[in-house]
Amino acid sequence: MSRLVRLADRRAVVAGDGFTLVRESGAPLPDGDVIIPAADWIARGEALGGRSGRTGVWLGPAEDPAILKDRLAGLALVAVEFPKFTDGRGYSIGALLRRRYGWTGELRAIGEVLRDQLFYLARAGFDAFALAPGRDAEAAARAFEDFSIAYQDASDGRTPALADRAAAAREAKIVRTRKLLARIAAAHPDAAFASSLSAEDMVLTDLIARAGLPIRVFTLDTGRLHAETLGMIGEARARYGIEIEVMRPVAAEVEAHVAAHGAHAFYESLELRKACCFIRKVEPLNRALAGRSAWLTGQRRDQAVTRGALPEEETDTARGMAKFNPLADWSWEDVLAYAARFEVPLNPLHARGYPSIGCEPCTRAIRPGEDPRAGRWWWEQADKKECGLHEQPSAQSLESAA
Ligand code: ADX
Ligand code: SF4
Repeated sequence: MSRLVRLADRRAVVAGDGFTLVRESGAPLPDGDVIIPAADWIARGEALGGRSGRTGVWLGPAEDPAILKDRLAGLALVAVEFPKFTDGRGYSIGALLRRRYGWTGELRAIGEVLRDQLFYLARAGFDAFALAPGRDAEAAARAFEDFSIAYQDASDGRTPALADRAAAAREAKIVRTRKLLARIAAAHPDAAFASSLSAEDMVLTDLIARAGLPIRVFTLDTGRLHAETLGMIGEARARYGIEIEVMRPVAAEVEAHVAAHGAHAFYESLELRKACCFIRKVEPLNRALAGRSAWLTGQRRDQAVTRGALPEEETDTARGMAKFNPLADWSWEDVLAYAARFEVPLNPLHARGYPSIGCEPCTRAIRPGEDPRAGRWWWEQADKKECGLHEQPSAQSLESAA
């Protein structure tokens, strides 16, 4: 019997379930309800007709859900496998089954799923996930309860008082942020927003685009970003119909650095890592900001120990311009709640254990309970983990941008 966490009604219910998971194709089937491999189910065809229990199927992450599309009506449930918490292919399978093939029956996740991923599972249309043997069911349910408050929206008539208060506080934050953005755009018609295409930055892009504010959005393509992150440039352009300027490093500088120190010098020392960040991020940022009077970032206070005192508004003294961090007091849950409510496109890496995303060789997925930035420059100390974008640059380093 599997133990399940059901995600219905934004509540977590730990439940037993009579289905037996059969992994091997062609194996003799036990009495009662079974979940068998999808291909096995197709191969067995009519032979299953004589069984008394219900039959569900499971799909591996590499399997095409199209194999089920004409026969979904005969199924009791579809289980989708997540073999590792960094493997997000199951979300796409779930979303395809729901949206393209119109599956309205139970959609279940099996395998390795983390606390933060419950949100994405619910969003992709999953009803439940089966706990791996040995996992603490109550802890998983409590995690989802915390989380369900984070993604409440204000229109749910059954919302309990606690969630009402959380939703009201969140609404007030959104209104205040909208006002701040309008004030920035009015005071600084040349303001530019540095977007890393992370969830925070997609939320800010959504706020800017919905209000039609003339704030320019640009991203720094370091040449080492994940394909998923680069894909978000097109997603954002398509969704919001706005231009996203792509800034790139000076090719000759990159080549010289790689020729002198190798393609993976950032692992060797903090100095070489900062030199790489300077060439690939800080110098293009300086160019993007040259001549402007204000810039915006998506930084938040609770992202890192280095950001605990982050103000909403500050002066970038070296660049002689204003700097705004409009989401400074937003929590990660605030960001996800906004994204869910306004259907903001999100980098698929977030659902694969990457709350904070930088360049591919310098970012890894995090494990349950780890700090959200533990996956950034993971070989360095937490108080050193800044790439230089938010440190005051020296006057000399700005000369190249002039
Ligand atoms: S950082 O350590 O890379 O600076 P983080 O990924 O937490 O930190 O990003 C913080 C903010 O820096 C983002 O919200 C964004 O404003 C800016 N930023 C970071 N990376 C980029 C990028 N590649 N392009 C544009 N802006 C970026
Ligand atoms: Fe270079 Fe890594 Fe910095 Fe990207 S994050 S610019 S690859 S050191």
